[in-house]
Parts: sequence; structure tokens; C-alpha cells
Amino acid sequence: MLLKDKVCVIAGAASLRSIGYATAELFAEHGAKVVVVDLMMDEQVLASIKSRIEAQTQKPVSVHGFRCDISKSEDCEQLVKNVIDLHGTMDCLVNSAGIVRTQSMLDMTEKDIDVMINVNLKGAFNLCQSALRVFAKQKSGTIVNVSSAAAQRGGGLVGGAHYAASKGGVLSLTKSIAREFGHMGIRANAICPAMIETAMLDGLPPERLGAIIDAIPLKRTGTTKEAAGVCLFLASDLSGFVTGATIDVNGGSHIH
Ligand SMILES: NC(=O)c1ccc[n+]([C@@H]2O[C@H](COP(=O)([O-])OP(=O)(O)OC[C@H]3O[C@@H](n4cnc5c(N)ncnc54)[C@H](O)[C@@H]3O)[C@@H](O)[C@H]2O)c1
Repeated sequence: MLLKDKVCVIAGAASLRSIGYATAELFAEHGAKVVVVDLMMDEQVLASIKSRIEAQTQKPVSVHGFRCDISKSEDCEQLVKNVIDLHGTMDCLVNSAGIVRTQSMLDMTEKDIDVMINVNLKGAFNLCQSALRVFAKQKSGTIVNVSSAAAQRGGGLVGGAHYAASKGGVLSLTKSIAREFGHMGIRANAICPAMIETAMLDGLPPERLGAIIDAIPLKRTGTTKEAAGVCLFLASDLSGFVTGATIDVNGGSHIH
């Protein structure tokens, strides 16, 4: 039980196939009070998440959910207020919400760039800022931001330059938070996944997928559970002296 009674907010968890959902399930298994958040969250989605987590963990779990558009700062402020009204505190934020678009830079419109930056980078900023208002008061809290290997290698697998740049911004944001808030006992870290089996890989043609897998040293795609495991490490006291770090979850596809 690495997160017993810890209030953990996980954004980007609407799909049962997502990294966010797998993180919520693993955190609940470890005793967390889980709050799942997504643009697509509604009562039906929440009920499916709750029943799947209960089926997997075989025990009563604390799972609540809120709809939030992370690109809107007022939504993020309201979300954190709702969490505090519900649980009285908040211990951890995992931001796994995001979008991906595969486009050549020459084909991107200004709107394409705005949407990408607004969700992936400004959204991460908004969520972290709202969480940090609480964390700074209580002088504790952990943040795990889900970036991407695209940030490190200049895209090239899934996602165009706007995606890679937005995720690069998430890494800089995470390091800045770690530096600014470390003296308060607040930690912030990022993970850089690649080729994790979620809806984000659905659009890849089989021959392209095969070629990418062939270039991965572990010769396979990753599971959402494997990404969730690293989030658990970073959210829990196991990583108590780790902050500002970027952890790769990529099967060795980018070793640096
Ligand atoms: N799957 C991979 O191989 C991979 C690789 C690198 C990075 N990532 C990153 O992992 C994270 C999780 O992606 P996933 O693979 O689980 O895919 P996913 O599409 O299942 O999860 C992303 C979730 O974010 C939500 N979302 C989108 N815009 C939002 C907004 N404005 N406000 C709130 N929620 C919003 C979506 O509704 C969706 O449920 C993403 O940030 C993605 O960029 C995934």
C-alpha cells in the first residue's frame, strides 16, 4: 500500500485503455483516494471506471470523477476546489491528459498550433498551478506530468512538431516547479512514454507500427500498466529524493 489514503487526482483517465485509467487503477490498488478527471468525464464514464477498478482490485475503493477542460484555468481552479470540498486535502496530481496530431509542420495552421499548445502545455500549466496553490499552503504534494519521448527526440514516432514542442514545454515546466517548490517539500517529475498501447496508437498503419517496433530494443509496445508503475513510483515515498527528473518509459527506443 504505497499511497494509503492519499488523495490523488489523475487527469486524462476517461478511456479504460488510457495511461490515466491504468494509473487510477494501480493507485486505488495501493490505497489511494482516486479522483479521475477528463474532458470526456460524465456519470456513465465514471461508473464504468469505478466498476472496472472494483472488479480489478476486488475491494471497496474511493473513486470520484470530475469533468474538466485543462486548457481553461477556471476549470482547473474549480476542479481543485471540488477535490478539497470532497476530501479536505489533495496529495498528488498526475497529469496524463493530452492530445496528439500527426502533421507536417508545413501543413499546420495557426489554429492547429494553438489547440496543441493550449491543451498539452497550457493545460499542464493550469492544472499544476491550481494544485500548487494547495500544495504550497500545506507544504507537501507530488506532481507527475506525462510528457513524451517526442519531446526528447524531436517527434518522429507519433505527433508533429507542435506535439513535440508542447511536450518539451511540459518537461521545462516540471523542472521549474521542482526548483521553485522543492524547499516546501513539493516534488515534480515527468515521464516520457513512447509506444504505449492506447488509443493514441490506433491510427498507425500496421506496416509503420511493425517498423517502429522493430527499432525498439525490447521489440514490443508498452502496456499502460507499465507506464502507471512509473507514475506510482514517482507519486509515492519510494521516490522521496527524486524531483525534477524525467523517466523514460519507452522500451529503449530512445537511450540517451
Ligand atoms: N500512448 C503513448 O504511446 C504515448 C506516448 C507518449 C506520450 N503519451 C502521452 O500520454 C498521455 C496519455 O495518453 P494516452 O495514450 O493514455 O491516450 P488517451 O487519448 O487515452 O488519453 C488522453 C486523455 O486526455 C483527455 N483530454 C484531451 N484533451 C483534454 C482537455 N482539454 N482537458 C481534459 N482532458 C483532455 C482525452 O479525453 C483522453 O481521455 C498523453 O498526454 C499523451 O500525449 C502517450
